[in-house]
Amino acid sequence: TWTTHNVVEEQIAAIREQVGDKRVICGLSGGVDSAVAAALVQRAVGSQLTCVFVDHGLLRKGEAEQVEKDFVAATGVQLKVVDAQKRFLDALAGKTEPEEKRKIIGREFIRVFEQAASEVVADAGAHGEAVDFLVQGTLYPDVVESGGGTGTANIKSHHNVGGLPEDLQFRLVEPLRKLFKDEVRKVGEELGLPSEIVWRQPFPGPGLGIRIIGEVTRDRLDLLREADAIAREELTVAGLDRDIWQCPVVLLADVRSVGVQGDGRTYGHPVVLRPVSSEDAMTADWSRLPYDVLAKISTRITNEVPEVNRVVLDVTSKPPGTIEWE
Ligand code: XMP
Repeated sequence: TWTTHNVVEEQIAAIREQVGDKRVICGLSGGVDSAVAAALVQRAVGSQLTCVFVDHGLLRKGEAEQVEKDFVAATGVQLKVVDAQKRFLDALAGKTEPEEKRKIIGREFIRVFEQAASEVVADAGAHGEAVDFLVQGTLYPDVVESGGGTGTANIKSHHNVGGLPEDLQFRLVEPLRKLFKDEVRKVGEELGLPSEIVWRQPFPGPGLGIRIIGEVTRDRLDLLREADAIAREELTVAGLDRDIWQCPVVLLADVRSVGVQGDGRTYGHPVVLRPVSSEDAMTADWSRLPYDVLAKISTRITNEVPEVNRVVLDVTSKPPGTIEWE
């Protein structure tokens, strides 16, 4: 019978069997899948695992800290953090076209991760050890979609970007291959991971970089992070955070409109609330959030984020709109 406890025990045994006494590396994104996969491997082989977290500066408020502090505290994992915020901002400077932004973020991510991975490999080598395995948070639906099959892979081809240096070849450890998303969350809870990580909503790899319509700058990221944190907080207070699929907050950075606050005229930016309901993100409907929750979010954002003087609601289903704006 399927119990979370059995799944955990089974996977731990399987990981030990597969990995033996070899070293393992795992990239953490802040998302639930990579976190649960890493936590399982940590349970199985402990200090043979090294996790790498690339902080690209495009995460939401508190998320980098969740990985660096809470996840580490909950699991005891060895973590290598790479602060690449400036590098990503520099690479994105002046860029406004969505696909170009996505490509830049994907490219930089792989470069930084590869660099960090080769440092971990070199470090192990200096101790006479080899890093043979790479952990991936592949879920059952991903396995089915890609026609099954496991084996070797490399970081770049996994991200579908170009070739990989010969010396960075890993065998894959994929402890979530038989699980659906809801089961992954149960396993995460069983492993004692923080609920902010286990119940995290889907978040795109390119992060807030594709939720700023226009050029990505540090100031814009900071204000979007504040607005997004307010929306998430109020959805949680209202008990709606686990009902909706996700609620992107989008900053229309190149749009300005006139407002009034106190005695003064303002000329600020709008943010868009994009709450959606969905089963699998292939299609989605806009969520009919209660008006009082929307009102609370709007009031707080315009009060607490001075650069934002207007909050608008996206009432488009998918199709024709995608969930993200870029
Ligand atoms: P769209 O905007 O295509 O998004 O309707 C569908 C779902 O996918 C997420 N998304 C991404 N996830 N890397 C990811 O890991 C990406 O580049 C990416 N782009 C979109 C989006 O948040 C939604 O849940």
